[in-house]
Amino acid sequence: MQERLLIVSNRLPVNISKRQGELVYSKSAGGLATGLASFYKNYDSRWIGWPGYITESKLEKMRITDDLHKDATVPVFLTRRDIENYYEGFSNRTIWPLFHYFPEFVAYNPSYWDTYRRVNSRFAEQIIDIAQPNDIIWVHDYHLMLLPALLRQALPSVSIGFFLHIPFPSYEVFRTLPWRNELMHGLLGADLVGFHTHDYARHFLSAASRLLGLEHSLMRLTYEERMVKADSFPMGIDFDKFNHAGSSKSVRREMTRMQNRIGDRQLILSIDRLDYSKGILQRLEAFNLFLQRHPKYREKVTLLLLVVPSRSRVDSYRQLKLQVDTHVGRINGEHGTIGWSPIWYLYRSTPFPTLSAMYNVADVALITPYRDGMNLVAKEFVASKTNGRGVLILSEMAGAAAELSESLLINPNNIEEIANAIRIALQMPQEEQAKRLTEMQSKISRYNVTRWALDFIDGLKQIKTLNSRLRSNRLTTQIEAEIIDHFHAGSNRILFLDYDGTLVPFAKTPAQAKPPQTLLDLLKRLSESDNCQVVINSGRKKEELDQWFSYLPLDMSAEHGAWIKKRGGEWETIQPMTDEWKTELLPLLELYVARTPGAFIEDKSYSLVWHYRKAEVGLGQTRSRELLNELRYLTANLNLQVMEGNKVIEIKTSGINKGRTAVAFLMQAKKPDFIFAVGDDHTDEDLFRALPPEAYTIKVGYHMTAARFSVKNPEAVRSLLEKLSK
Ligand code: UDP
Ligand code: G6P
Repeated sequence: MQERLLIVSNRLPVNISKRQGELVYSKSAGGLATGLASFYKNYDSRWIGWPGYITESKLEKMRITDDLHKDATVPVFLTRRDIENYYEGFSNRTIWPLFHYFPEFVAYNPSYWDTYRRVNSRFAEQIIDIAQPNDIIWVHDYHLMLLPALLRQALPSVSIGFFLHIPFPSYEVFRTLPWRNELMHGLLGADLVGFHTHDYARHFLSAASRLLGLEHSLMRLTYEERMVKADSFPMGIDFDKFNHAGSSKSVRREMTRMQNRIGDRQLILSIDRLDYSKGILQRLEAFNLFLQRHPKYREKVTLLLLVVPSRSRVDSYRQLKLQVDTHVGRINGEHGTIGWSPIWYLYRSTPFPTLSAMYNVADVALITPYRDGMNLVAKEFVASKTNGRGVLILSEMAGAAAELSESLLINPNNIEEIANAIRIALQMPQEEQAKRLTEMQSKISRYNVTRWALDFIDGLKQIKTLNSRLRSNRLTTQIEAEIIDHFHAGSNRILFLDYDGTLVPFAKTPAQAKPPQTLLDLLKRLSESDNCQVVINSGRKKEELDQWFSYLPLDMSAEHGAWIKKRGGEWETIQPMTDEWKTELLPLLELYVARTPGAFIEDKSYSLVWHYRKAEVGLGQTRSRELLNELRYLTANLNLQVMEGNKVIEIKTSGINKGRTAVAFLMQAKKPDFIFAVGDDHTDEDLFRALPPEAYTIKVGYHMTAARFSVKNPEAVRSLLEKLSK
């Protein structure tokens, strides 16, 4: 069956309205719809979403469905109440202001939340109806954050991607939301969660770790037995469309018309939806300040302020409209002369030829959002410039700032800085304008919208492959039966068993860490079976292992292989070792204990361990990164290795590891014909790698591993060992 792409977003690229009894179809505004529209038509895709219109009859619904079908779009119809509670309510009165760091506008309303859940389920039903097993489903934006999990439940093996087009806020802001965990679980239904910038991805991973205790590495985490990846994909634009638009007749006509009106004045352009996150008011204030400071620019410059109506039923937007009107009126009244208005104010949506002409003619683009996921207008302005003229003033709070570093970057809260940037932009020498534009164009032409979308889909496929590999590693009942058969047929058998996280779950307190009697009985049965050597292969101190296991006929390895003890023998080190280095490193570890409540040091004979499993998750992770960096630097020329384990950092002599110890055991054993090893963390990977390929190596937890098989948890390990012991 052919692979199709199902794009899902709240708003379809087409917007329906009714004028004089007739349905009118127009293009939607906003970054998501305009950005993806040019991509999706070239692929075998369907776009599922709301057409922006409340239908009046069943017949109307059918007609719209038929009309949209021709464009490969599938409507999800919403009622007036849905729109009030889900779209205007939870999406735009709760998530939007919160994620854009406007807590004062956030409404925490349980009925908004209820409807949000319901509408997400409605989207899910509609998609499940049309989805095929090979489809890739790509869900977009904050309106549909519960959808990935709903789809995952119904279509467990389908590829699901999610892209957030707005910022993902820092944990401190996100945690204020009563439904934060539900949103996280919703998103984690996806295989890949994409963001415009690395910072947003980082915030998401930090929320996953702090709210749900999910640790990540290489931007991946394990959730419900799957890998989920978070990554940044800065959305691009259809570069060629904007870059070549100036040669079309309709655009040229518009440009000439505009140029005639402007004469020899310089034109500053400002374009956004009417949204408080865009910083329109303080931009006007900065322009006002600029005119006050530089009166010589009066009658020499015009600010073209294009404001696109948006979400006008939400109070914060309605109020902003009144404020913008007042500000524009005041500034025009204060500075204007007969024949010159400092601000041309348009409150409407503009057709492409006019928009493109504006980008072409403008000398400066003034884009100053307080927060913006990306801001495509900035990229469109840069792409439209073909004569090497044009200066972009851009807020450092826009996602686009990460790529457009040759713009004049400003802090949107600093009106003086913006006013100053306007002056610098208007006076910038042409060569410098050209140089900056060329550099920015080379970046945004390479990573255009097609590249962005393909890159995301590629990322989605990679994580899918990784997940199927992980799934194929899982220990099936068939392989389990094979292991049991081989074990019973073997005449020289050796079992390497890690302890914490493998034979018992990770314990928070020393009392919980003690082996339960059932486990001791199991180990006894195994180690007493004929020709069966059982090695407890732990990172713990030898004294602890002795205390728990010395009465059993076991072999033991302590401190990740530094010490070994054969059954009935004494502890010995695997090679001559020194611990002199410990006095030098101990003060550093102590400093990190003092700075990290809950962290503690374990002082073993030939290693030092800094534990942070009792520390607050986020702080523990941050401090462990810092400590790791310092230790790597300090130990660079010493014969020491610094290793990360499960919520620990361990420093010990180089070359000592569980793998090396295992090899030592194997060399001393009669040639074994059954080798079995099980472990859960990084230190066990050395063991898996050191063993011959026919050994049965098993990783606890579904992570990337050198082991041949994976099982879910210590319970599964114990159940397998029970079967061997029978
Ligand atoms: N846009 C539009 N009609 C207009 C003005 C702008 O369709 O009259 C488009 C513009 O070309 C851009 C998008 O709206 O692609 C705005 O995207 P941006 O990322 O800048 O902001 P958003 O609206 O998504 O917050
Ligand atoms: C932003 C959001 C989009 C949204 C657009 C227009 O770009 O990320 O999801 O479609 O604004 O807003 P609207 O509420 O009109 O869909």
